[in-house]
Amino acid sequence: MIRLTDISKRFGNYQALKGIDLDIPSGELVALLGPSGSGKTSLLRIIAGLEGADEGSIRFDADEGNELEKNVGFVFQHYALFKHMTVFENVAYGLKVKKRKDRLPKKVIREKVLELLKLVRLEGFADRYPSQLSGGQRQRVALARTLAVEPKILLLDEPFGALDAKVRKELRRWLRRLHDEVAVTTIFVTHDQEEALDVADRIVILNDGKIIQEGSPDEVYHHPNSPFVYNFLGDVNLFKGRLEKGKLHQGVCEWEINGDIVSQSETAVGFVRPHDISISRDHALKDSVPAWITYIQAFGKSVRIELKRQDSEEYLEAELSREQFTELRLQIKELVFVKPNQLHVFTPDDYVI
Ligand SMILES: Nc1ncnc2c1ncn2[C@@H]1O[C@H](COP(=O)(O)OP(=O)(O)O)[C@@H](O)[C@H]1O
Ligand SMILES: [Mg+2]
Repeated sequence: MIRLTDISKRFGNYQALKGIDLDIPSGELVALLGPSGSGKTSLLRIIAGLEGADEGSIRFDADEGNELEKNVGFVFQHYALFKHMTVFENVAYGLKVKKRKDRLPKKVIREKVLELLKLVRLEGFADRYPSQLSGGQRQRVALARTLAVEPKILLLDEPFGALDAKVRKELRRWLRRLHDEVAVTTIFVTHDQEEALDVADRIVILNDGKIIQEGSPDEVYHHPNSPFVYNFLGDVNLFKGRLEKGKLHQGVCEWEINGDIVSQSETAVGFVRPHDISISRDHALKDSVPAWITYIQAFGKSVRIELKRQDSEEYLEAELSREQFTELRLQIKELVFVKPNQLHVFTPDDYVI
């Protein structure tokens, strides 16, 4: 386990990390997720020992050891391979530069490198040069090179950030399998919530140098602790209203609330994901609001519909399955009736976090 206690870091007058407490159990794949500038890279560099913290401490378990440089592998977004070396030589590099007494025999190094290339699905590419590879392949070579020295902890700073969406998706699935096969502790920095939700065992959400929430993908997605997390993890519609008898009231509508309200506040905002908005043609539908359909995006698995409320002129976004959409035969400019199925309520108190 890696235990971070009350880590703070300043750059000049700027406080980049503000009292980070975090435990990372051995063998987990943890994503550090947050917007640009939230402190992810700073935290990762401190864990790697590349940067010192101003305050706080880091403890590694005995099995992860104290010889940090030997046990930590670091892969950056733009990882420079040695251009004049083949893929094989790049991956073998860390093994060849070891001191003579620690160095493996040539034949063993060769076997190991070929095995690693197989692991990153690049068997047959050993003799190529980096310039003869795609971006995704280069990043896999970088990972193989890092794994060659058998780190106990793998630190990845937006390793797929420079690649296009389709390759990124493939690589993150592949990273998940790799992590399970080689049994390392992996800390993965990303600003892409889908990427984090897709691969991580646990997600640590950072904003402004602080941990806002941590938990499994399911926990943070379905039980966000703050408006920030709700917003950051997906698209959202807002329904402002009054709290009364455990429901959110707006005009004549009263909507059920998901979860408990502890706040004494009378006003609140209901947060609703696009797939939790229902659309109907029935003007008598209880607790619904009238809205015009302003846009339909009908490609892909689901259909996204933009609506403008007739009463407040606020925009809403709904997501329907293709079947629902086909059944309803919705048309642009049509007046329909919408209602939130699931309301996650935050009160002004929740905005202070
Ligand atoms: N070496 C540095 N000198 C000055 N400011 C820095 C330095 N490194 C990071 N910062 C600042 O600290 C904040 C957090 O940066 P960083 O950890 O890189 O965030 P992230 O990786 O989440 O985008 C940013 O505002 C950044 O400008
Ligand atoms: Mg960064």
